[in-house]
Amino acid sequence: MSATDNTGRSADGRGVRNVGILGTGCYLPEKVMSNRDLEELVDTSDEWIFSRTGIRERRLAADDESTSVLAARAAEAALERAGVRADELEMILVATITPDMLFPSTACLVQDLIGAKNAVCMDIEAACSGFLYVLETARQYIATGSMDRVLVIGAEKLSSFIDWTDRTTCVLFGDGAGAAVLGPQDSGRGIMASVMGSDGGLAHLLRIPGGGSRRPPSHEMIDRGDHYLRMEGREVFKHAVRCMCEASQMVLEKVGMTMDDVACVIPHQANMRIMKAVAARLDVPIDRFYLNVEQYGNISAASAAVALDEAIRKGVVKPSDIVLMVVFGGGFTWGATLLEL
Ligand code: UT7
Repeated sequence: MSATDNTGRSADGRGVRNVGILGTGCYLPEKVMSNRDLEELVDTSDEWIFSRTGIRERRLAADDESTSVLAARAAEAALERAGVRADELEMILVATITPDMLFPSTACLVQDLIGAKNAVCMDIEAACSGFLYVLETARQYIATGSMDRVLVIGAEKLSSFIDWTDRTTCVLFGDGAGAAVLGPQDSGRGIMASVMGSDGGLAHLLRIPGGGSRRPPSHEMIDRGDHYLRMEGREVFKHAVRCMCEASQMVLEKVGMTMDDVACVIPHQANMRIMKAVAARLDVPIDRFYLNVEQYGNISAASAAVALDEAIRKGVVKPSDIVLMVVFGGGFTWGATLLEL
């Protein structure tokens, strides 16, 4: 696991600047698919889904809402709250595993949609951990003084990659996007520290196996359903709990804090049972966790981003609160970020 904090100095000897969140936004598609709707599609029940996952419903994007469209809507909301114009952005980073296409990047497509003509754009792929990966990457550019305004987005249209006949996965995921505008922060601590980790040895447990260079598109590949998301749920569950707990403890140790200092935990919203297990192992009451898995299911890279935006807008987290964000996803990838709003 690698770790960074805001106490060091940049390579050129200049002081490292504090980096803060200037504004957040999110976009959830209008269409709601409930557990009851899923009972019509596969052999499942509201009771099974809710008791095993905590999910009651999820949002599904319309046909003309690709990932870049969801991302652009979240971005526009974040820009408005930050009071930043699109043409002031110097960089756009999009975290997604469901890009509009293999290339160009979804970030480039978002740039065009929102008119951010001065931004350099790229995607970062870290599955459900993606939002903390883009947050930390953006922080590095701003902390060193290279940039002043960076837009980060987690956006997914998972419904395009779900096998709607596979009850072990189709009940879990949803569509949506969350965004944040970052910049240097004079007062307060902003993003205090991050840890991130990856383990490619466990890549096979959660992936979309086909459609890339290893298994290019072909009729046979489609017939096998290799273009759909596949997951070994139980294995993923175990690793998710362990990695999220370790990352949380590590990031707190870096800044000499404990869970008692944390006002709110904003976790990746994969499964209520994972979040309860993490809370129990960290010895924190679950009511200190911000939870929205019941309404949206697992939105992968968008999940923590949407939760952060909601928690801020609802006043669940307030200025000077210490917030712990913690994520886990395919790769495997994981991470934790501590921030003071
Ligand atoms: O976003 C990052 C990563 N993703 C996650 O973190 C997800 C991690 N994993 C999980 O959340 C859970 O493992 C699941 C929710 C995916 C599954 O819960 P589980 O308690 O681990 O169930 P299971 O896979 O062990 O399956 C138990 C039973 C099986 O039947 P048998 O073999 O015992 O007869 C499944 O076939 O439940 C059956 N099952 C279902 N039954 C009704 C699986 N899916 C369903 C379903 N409805 N949708």
